[in-house]
Amino acid sequence: MRPSNPAPEPAGVREFEAAARERLDPVHYDYFAGGAGDEITLRANESAFGRLALLPRVLRGVEKPELGITLPGGSASMPVLVAPTAFHCLADPEGERATARAAATTETIMIVSLASTVAVEDVAAAAPGARLWFQLFVQPDMAFTETLVRRAEAAGCGALVVTVDAPVFGTRGRDERNGFHDLPGGLRCENMRDGDRIRPIVFSPAISWDHIARLTEITSLPIVLKGVLHPSDARTALDHGVSALIVSNHGGRQLDTVPATVDVLPEIAAAVGGAAPVLLDGGVRRGTDVLKALALGASAVAVGRPVVWGLGADGERGAVRVLELLRAEVEEALALCGVASVHDLEPGMVRRLRRPW
Ligand code: FNR
Repeated sequence: MRPSNPAPEPAGVREFEAAARERLDPVHYDYFAGGAGDEITLRANESAFGRLALLPRVLRGVEKPELGITLPGGSASMPVLVAPTAFHCLADPEGERATARAAATTETIMIVSLASTVAVEDVAAAAPGARLWFQLFVQPDMAFTETLVRRAEAAGCGALVVTVDAPVFGTRGRDERNGFHDLPGGLRCENMRDGDRIRPIVFSPAISWDHIARLTEITSLPIVLKGVLHPSDARTALDHGVSALIVSNHGGRQLDTVPATVDVLPEIAAAVGGAAPVLLDGGVRRGTDVLKALALGASAVAVGRPVVWGLGADGERGAVRVLELLRAEVEEALALCGVASVHDLEPGMVRRLRRPW
């Protein structure tokens, strides 16, 4: 007799996406999966990694590759962070609490979204020892923005991630078609509490470098600028006291037809010239993607949807599994490339293919 088959364990991030899709409300799946416009950038983020090949070295005597990294806002056991994504309670009832516990278990940094469905204080309380950073959309009311900064500080967040690629909201066709404009019953953006009322998150079309300068004045937390694609902006960021940058196009959810992040990374890394860590997010689905980004100048990457897929497929356990899978893949790829440490990757290990596989 054949043994009864337990549900197969997903063997990669893309399989976790399929498992999450089975379980999630299709409207919520679309919210997580979708991108802006024709989703050209959304697809490009992933496919750009497919146009890069790794060139391994042999006989380097690598016994156990070193994965740990240190960033201005804290250290992590691997160069894979949790990118800020909204509304985790749509993926699992425990929401951001479960994600934070998964980040604590895997000893990596979770960037808590301003649009989280659990307040940052409650995320911190649910996961003692979690390494949290707080993501901010600067709110037009600067006094309220400052309140948010104080709350992030009090909750123990190690850095403030200021997202700058969303002066206005990018329209996502899937949400328009599905009529997905409000959170379902009982769920709210819990960070937007202001006394007795809940404010809506608003975007700030007038956001400028002055706001970044102001933020550096009001907090001693390192400021990480998320959403930089132009080398000149990277240089200006350094002039404004920014501690690190995240090369990001918001996972293809804001301006469509901007380049894939890994395609602009080398230019940004060159512009920054080692003066501050450069991180990347967008389309990272395998450990080999992580190696390519690090070889091309990133100090770490962040993953958005992959963690949501873990959460949607199997709650906290699924989020842990996704992060541990990525860790194992990074470790294996380093060993197979003959590289002893994530700090030793360099551009010569990556070849750009004229045609994708
Ligand atoms: C996001 N992203 C995002 N970014 C941010 O700064 N604040 C936010 O609240 C959100 N919310 C959000 C929701 C969902 C469902 C997604 C998919 C993304 C963007 C996110 O931080 C990151 O830039 C991308 O997710 C990276 O791309 P991948 O890893 O999803 O391909």
